[in-house]
Amino acid sequence: MTVSSLPPESNLASRLINSILAIKPLAKVAKHQARQMIINRAEKIGVPWRENVHQLSQHDWQKELAIIENSNVIYPDYYLCSFHAYETGNLSWQSALEVESAAYAVHANIWPGTGIKGDSRLRHNYHEVLKQQVVISPQAILDIGCSVGMSTFSLQEIYPQAKVTGLDLSPYHLAVAHYRSQQKNSQINWVHGAAESTGLPDASFDLVSAFLLFHELPQKAAQDIFKEARRLLRPGGHFTMMDMNPRAEAYQKMPPYVMTLLKSTEPYLDEYFSLDMSTALVNAGFKSPKITPMSPRHRTIVAQV
Ligand SMILES: C[S@@+](CC[C@H](N)C(=O)[O-])C[C@H]1O[C@@H](n2cnc3c(N)ncnc32)[C@H](O)[C@@H]1O
Repeated sequence: MTVSSLPPESNLASRLINSILAIKPLAKVAKHQARQMIINRAEKIGVPWRENVHQLSQHDWQKELAIIENSNVIYPDYYLCSFHAYETGNLSWQSALEVESAAYAVHANIWPGTGIKGDSRLRHNYHEVLKQQVVISPQAILDIGCSVGMSTFSLQEIYPQAKVTGLDLSPYHLAVAHYRSQQKNSQINWVHGAAESTGLPDASFDLVSAFLLFHELPQKAAQDIFKEARRLLRPGGHFTMMDMNPRAEAYQKMPPYVMTLLKSTEPYLDEYFSLDMSTALVNAGFKSPKITPMSPRHRTIVAQV
């Protein structure tokens, strides 16, 4: 699906939203509104957002940061912009300390009445698709865009025999992931790097997974990451991803003001929504992928080498 193949009224609404967000003071208001909406929703469903952040900010993070940070990492330009209403995007402690509470809040409204359990239901549904469609038992797994490790820990739970690696560009997010893995006594290996140029050896994984990474990427980066995943996978290995489903009715019918708030925090949403994932994966050397809607708003894509 391309932007131009969307219904004309969606194109019009999309252009209108983009021109509103091009006006800096309006974009700032939209970001502020979006952030307040998420924090209020979190606290309403029983996620103590402010208390969680307060607890985490008591910790001295410099030790974790020193262990995790790779000073040779070069940040792509597209990454150095505002995301999720944080001026410095994912490169901030504020984002790292809030991201888990934000996940519970954002996923609370996927299914009516699930509240705080929406996040675990979304992850569970992803794993159910993996269990059905990943026909091998992966021994080595790479979770790209692992953030603070929520997706990485859950992959380790469903594949306890596997050696799991989590990779992310944010050393702040990874510092929290490292701290959490010490609390859980888990052996996950954390790598600070870009998913499009990991520096990891050829054919060293059976499964490369990306949970909610691709909506944060421009198309060129997404295509480069598919090629890198292909290089990292062994013969018969699988690339799997879970992210927003542009074909979901929930997005087609989303009220323009909600879409404006969403876009104000997700700078590459139009590029993500208009990328033909099947063609991009085939171009990167995968067999034609299977796309499975697994929530009213999300899809899982499974592609085999
Ligand atoms: C929405 S979060 C992912 C959430 C996480 N997988 C989970 O299950 O909760 C997206 C993450 O992707 C990371 N990211 C964005 N672009 C990246 C890239 N090119 N390479 C590696 N990580 C990237 C961000 O730093 C952020 O931590």
